[in-house]
Amino acid sequence: MRASWSWLVVLIALLAGMGLQPLLSWIEAAAQPSEEEARSAFEQLGCVSCHNGNVAKTRWEDIVADFTEWRDKYASLDEAVAAEVEYFGGQRFSSFRELMEQMATNSRVDLSDPQMIVIMEYLVSLYGVSLEEALGGPITPAPEETTPEEQKTIDVGYRTEGGEEPGIGIATTIIVIAIIVLGSGVIAYLLTKR
Ligand code: HEC
Repeated sequence: MRASWSWLVVLIALLAGMGLQPLLSWIEAAAQPSEEEARSAFEQLGCVSCHNGNVAKTRWEDIVADFTEWRDKYASLDEAVAAEVEYFGGQRFSSFRELMEQMATNSRVDLSDPQMIVIMEYLVSLYGVSLEEALGGPITPAPEETTPEEQKTIDVGYRTEGGEEPGIGIATTIIVIAIIVLGSGVIAYLLTKR
């Protein structure tokens, strides 16, 4: 009887272990915004008030096309932005981060705004890098705001969006790992008891 139980536990632990890899890739894929989500965030933040082909010459489709093209043309996104983006009055940006900080300011939001992250994550995915890579580090608040309660460092690995709990994927992973650990514990217990 005890033997059949331990086999069941081994089986459950194995299945949980096998499920972990696809689960992690699923979490990664789910963290990547779709064009639909990015475009909708672009509209909701009011970026379109300038990016309509008049005030700013690039519309959403043009920006998407640019980021896709830059992938084969420039060694880094910073290089691409420095060479290609010309702001009002011929002003230039030395990096993707600098450009996006200006754009966030234009729309009166912070760089760490969830909608802003969705837009940026989508655009940098077209170029083929992670957001952290593109920004040259995580999004951190100004250096003076470093008290733990006010620490607003955003982990760009996953995002918060319309009522979605940011930690769901991570929580699931922890539960799966807990099952594996528990399963192994039970097996160890059963084996030593015999
Ligand atoms: C006050 C007007 C204004 C607002 C609001 C604005 N932008 Fe811009 N943005 C510009 C201008 C001007 C440029 C320079 C290129 C151009 O003329 O299209 C630019 C360039 C860009 C570029 C580089 C485009 C490329 O392909 O060369 C990106 C990306 C961008 N903005 C994103 C955003 C996002 C995201 C928002 C909303 C959070 C936003 N912008 C809001 C005026 C604005």
